[in-house]
Amino acid sequence: MTTASPRSIRLDALAYGGDYNPDQWPEEVWLEDARLMVEAGVNIVTLPVFSWPLLEPREGEYDFAGLDRVIDLLWSHGIRIDLATATATPPAWLIREHPEVLPHNVDGVRLEFGSRQSYCPSSPVFRDAALRLTRTLAERYGEHPALALWHVSNEYGDHVSRCWCPVSAVHFRRWLGARYGSIDALNAAWGTSCWGQHYLDFEQIEPPRTATGPINPAQQLDFERFSSDALLELFQSEIDVLREVTPEIAVTTNFMSLFRELDYWDFADAEDLVTDDAYPDPADPNAHVGAALNYGLMRSLKDGRPWLLLEQAPSAVSWRDVNVPKAPGQMRLGSMQALAHGSDGVMFFQWRQAKFGPEKFHSAMLGHRGEDSRSFQETKALGAELKKLAAIKDTRVRASVALVADWDSWWGLSAPDSLPSLRLNWLTEARAWHAAAFALGQPVDVSRAGGPYGSHSVLLVPNLYAVTVEQADALAAFVAGGGQLVVGPFSGVVDHSEQVHDGGAPGPLRDLLGVEVDEWWPLADGEKRSVTLGAALVAATHDVRVWSEWLVVADGTEVLASFADGDLAGRAAVTRRSHGSGAAWYLGAGLDDDGMRAVLARVFADAGLSVPSPDAASTTLEVVTRTDGTTDFTFLLNHGRESVSVPGIADGTDLLSGGDAADGITLDGFGVAVVAHPVSALSPSSSPSLPSASDSEAAL
Ligand code: GAL
Repeated sequence: MTTASPRSIRLDALAYGGDYNPDQWPEEVWLEDARLMVEAGVNIVTLPVFSWPLLEPREGEYDFAGLDRVIDLLWSHGIRIDLATATATPPAWLIREHPEVLPHNVDGVRLEFGSRQSYCPSSPVFRDAALRLTRTLAERYGEHPALALWHVSNEYGDHVSRCWCPVSAVHFRRWLGARYGSIDALNAAWGTSCWGQHYLDFEQIEPPRTATGPINPAQQLDFERFSSDALLELFQSEIDVLREVTPEIAVTTNFMSLFRELDYWDFADAEDLVTDDAYPDPADPNAHVGAALNYGLMRSLKDGRPWLLLEQAPSAVSWRDVNVPKAPGQMRLGSMQALAHGSDGVMFFQWRQAKFGPEKFHSAMLGHRGEDSRSFQETKALGAELKKLAAIKDTRVRASVALVADWDSWWGLSAPDSLPSLRLNWLTEARAWHAAAFALGQPVDVSRAGGPYGSHSVLLVPNLYAVTVEQADALAAFVAGGGQLVVGPFSGVVDHSEQVHDGGAPGPLRDLLGVEVDEWWPLADGEKRSVTLGAALVAATHDVRVWSEWLVVADGTEVLASFADGDLAGRAAVTRRSHGSGAAWYLGAGLDDDGMRAVLARVFADAGLSVPSPDAASTTLEVVTRTDGTTDFTFLLNHGRESVSVPGIADGTDLLSGGDAADGITLDGFGVAVVAHPVSALSPSSSPSLPSASDSEAAL
């Protein structure tokens, strides 16, 4: 099973390296950097992300002498370049000559120069200048043998993801014109007959700036879509230049994990390689669970193909209120987790720790103390270990479960002031559902709402507030094909114009789920409500989180859990409707962690997946398998500080220690093993079951 895309990163090993900012150092340091990079096993670095003012000190005047020298120096040491187009931060001269390039916030206040990413995504002045630089760079370095990948801009949407300036207003109107064709169609879709919002012309429409009261949710939703599209257009315009000048070189931009502001499905479609920047908080003992979901998204954005971890911190970051370092072993473990989930390499921000600027306290591969720093020692050790994992490159992750991520629903659910409750948060729900699957030993891919759903046997839909008939049909087809579908509360509520479906929720999902929602009963702050799961699950009573609903259940739909108290006592809370060998589950309440695990344990069992009993579930040991179709590479990741013994895997060898894995492996706290074994040793459709946290000798 090979997975190389038509345009791939030009590197025949797992990528290892980081952001490199030679501009911040005198040239004599560069030589030492190159030497130490080789010592650490670095084979690729990202540069020059923020160097526009040095590369083009005045409009149309270029100075590439320094960049030429650094690229040649690195290449003479065998190090390749993820070459940034350097357009993430416009230089002061551009801003001073064209202040209209600066973005405006929701109050119409202009955001001044002095940090980074100070541009309006819709500015034609910015775009033209960025494209000129991109073309000049592509023409200069397109043939350079060190060029492995184009890195367009940097973290689109970081700092500025929405702009409310007059230039954006013009772009927004143009975007609306293309979407609706006529002002009558827009009035109908936006429901402007409510609150006297009728428009005679697109010219009368403004971006939703701070207003007298709640803003039309349809206008708000379109502004979210437009803002994501405006950055995508900018991205695409750079890609077009790069494809024209260097058609062979793969293009990426670095994502920011599950990021509300940009619809990454669209961004991933535009590029060749998905890359991600991941900064799990070392102070959060469950950060690895969230990281697994982020990585599930990254591999799924291009249909399971390998992606690349382009940035992580070697230890502490510098932008949280409190920046805790990674404990010994934690950076290695986090790196291995990304590899387990399909990354074809490990990269960092940044190579050499800064001496000045806002990131001087951010850790780096080479710390302030130089070669002796703990981070450099760990960097070197990891570089050596990656070489032992060369065989995992281009392999794919096995996952039977997918979770639906839908940006329209995410955006709709964050309308600030017109929802039954502001406490129902899309990301919180997605993380809670994923955490339950994680604890039950299932790696989770991510799917678009309308599919395709691949070969997954379980589809988790924590929330699908906005749904179209086409998406509902695709979900129904998944169930008709034997899939287990689980849908969370407040789904199927509106169409893609924020209009409530006829007959109410769950709209076009009604027949599939076999329920109707009469009313939403969000919990008041501090209010308690509970749900009793029936014998078909694990009979127990659980707390309700945030949300509950008054459900009306159709004939033929089973009730598997009911509300235990309050005004909803005795009413259905969890239902299941069978459709042949498939089933559609509905949760009319937010369940606590144990309740969620109990439901998913049953769902997974119905899908034929091997899972531990819910009370043996654990988030400490994670097992993820990559495969090339012949050999499986099973990553055993101990996220706890205590050691864990894992039973043997037949014919398995731990690639890291070189040890035979047939008789069992003991993982130290934060320990990792990567066991290569023939595919037949473990069932291809399931992960090995997990030992409970307390049971260190449970069988795989
Ligand atoms: C990323 C960014 C890098 C660096 C890093 C620090 O968001 O792309 O340039 O600032 O954060 O954690």
